[in-house]
Amino acid sequence: MSLTSRHLLGLYNVPKEDIGKILDSASSFKEVLDRPIKKVPTLQGKTIVNLFFESSTRTRISFELAQRRLSADIVNFAASTSSLSKGETFKDTARNIEAMKIDMVVVRHQSAGAPQFLSRIVDANVINAGDGRHEHPTQALLDMYTLREKFGTLKGLRVCIVGDILHSRVALSNIYGLKTMGAEVSLCGPATMIPREIDKLGVQVYHRIEDVIPNVDALNVLRIQLERQEGGHFPSIREYHNYFGVTRERLEKAEKPITILHPGPINRDVELSADVADSEHSVILQQVLNGVAVRMAILYLLSQSN
Ligand code: CP
Repeated sequence: MSLTSRHLLGLYNVPKEDIGKILDSASSFKEVLDRPIKKVPTLQGKTIVNLFFESSTRTRISFELAQRRLSADIVNFAASTSSLSKGETFKDTARNIEAMKIDMVVVRHQSAGAPQFLSRIVDANVINAGDGRHEHPTQALLDMYTLREKFGTLKGLRVCIVGDILHSRVALSNIYGLKTMGAEVSLCGPATMIPREIDKLGVQVYHRIEDVIPNVDALNVLRIQLERQEGGHFPSIREYHNYFGVTRERLEKAEKPITILHPGPINRDVELSADVADSEHSVILQQVLNGVAVRMAILYLLSQSN
């Protein structure tokens, strides 16, 4: 079993069949995670480099765990302690690492397009672990896996992505992936945080959370990216919470419970109130668990796609 591309750079134009294969394989790998010995020899003899130029907790640990569970040899690279700090270029760093005979590269970078660039200069399979404001395909795939696990299907599922769409790579990957799988996708946030013409991707746009809540099955609540704000998108954190915060009071207006996702890290009581984050309708920790299985599936399928 393999995918149509040898890299996972984003979910734009990724066929439904490939997404289906990843989600189905993830179910098999999730079963491995329930065993007393959570390890299979699938990637024995393969070497994977994790190139993280930007901070990460979930994605980095999740990829590393997935690689260890598949018995791969791994090397972790942190930009801050590398020769990049001595002026070496991204291209030279990548080519030097590849000269050491690696099979796969997982890359997170602050610049949109860095994984695409890397895929043109190295022979290894490249996986995008988040590039600037562009895409974060493995996050969207684990979000979709979690929704499919909960609802049985993505077709016709009504999912609203709430918050800072402008600075979000998670939003774009979710829009591409969910639309491909037949979900109804909407966005909600302040007008200043929703890119103009995004409705051309076939999503409904709302600016009042109260208008969304009665009409959705799930809310994927995005972190307000305080580190990426150039200022002026909303008056204050308190104001944002008052107008767009996902709170128990607001959710109680819905006829049936709404499933809550969040890619993390959460700003508690900013985009999401703490009690909702910890409620029985929150699947945030299931997302984290599923992330390992989904990344195992991606690593396995790409290793078959050479
Ligand atoms: N969801 C996500 O990408 O989290 P990290 O930034 O901690 O990897």
